[in-house]
Amino acid sequence: MIIQVNNNKIYWEFIRSLRNDTRLSDSFVDHTYISQESQEKYMSKYGSSYYIYLLNNIPVGFIGVVNNDLRIAVHPDYYNKGIGTELLYSIIREYPFLDIKVRKTNISGQQFFDKHKLTYTLVD
Ligand SMILES: CC(C)(COP(=O)(O)OP(=O)(O)OC[C@H]1O[C@@H](n2cnc3c(N)ncnc32)[C@H](O)[C@@H]1OP(=O)(O)O)[C@@H](O)C(=O)NCCC(=O)NCCS
Repeated sequence: MIIQVNNNKIYWEFIRSLRNDTRLSDSFVDHTYISQESQEKYMSKYGSSYYIYLLNNIPVGFIGVVNNDLRIAVHPDYYNKGIGTELLYSIIREYPFLDIKVRKTNISGQQFFDKHKLTYTLVD
């Protein structure tokens, strides 16, 4: 069963684990290691701006918009199954003028946004 839920404290560690996963961490604009302490601080402030994608009750992806800035990630075991697209389209109506930043080295991320005809800024 697939369901998208509001973020809450039980998913903070899931988000952190994806952010710190070495398979993805280079993709993120801010790719520094996130400690549990800094995650708790950040999520206390912005956690309600994130949504979690659950597959059979297991979190497999997240999307967040903080100050109009998009953050999206899917667990690598679940890439290319349309989950990123579903996450994106779940928020696009609410945030039609998203600020999307993608690292120059993140080619798959660029292809993902190109596919959806969304413009983004390339950053180092
Ligand atoms: C970008 C991301 C969210 C896409 O999630 P996803 O669930 O795999 O996306 P979907 O299955 O909905 O869409 C797949 C599309 O993304 C692109 N894509 C994803 N992985 C790719 C790869 N390794 N190489 C090339 N294109 C890729 C393609 O355009 C693909 O379309 P296709 O299936 O027609 O070839 C996911 O790759 C991810 O979490 N990346 C790391 C974090 C990141 O880069 N976030 C964006 C910047 S904040």
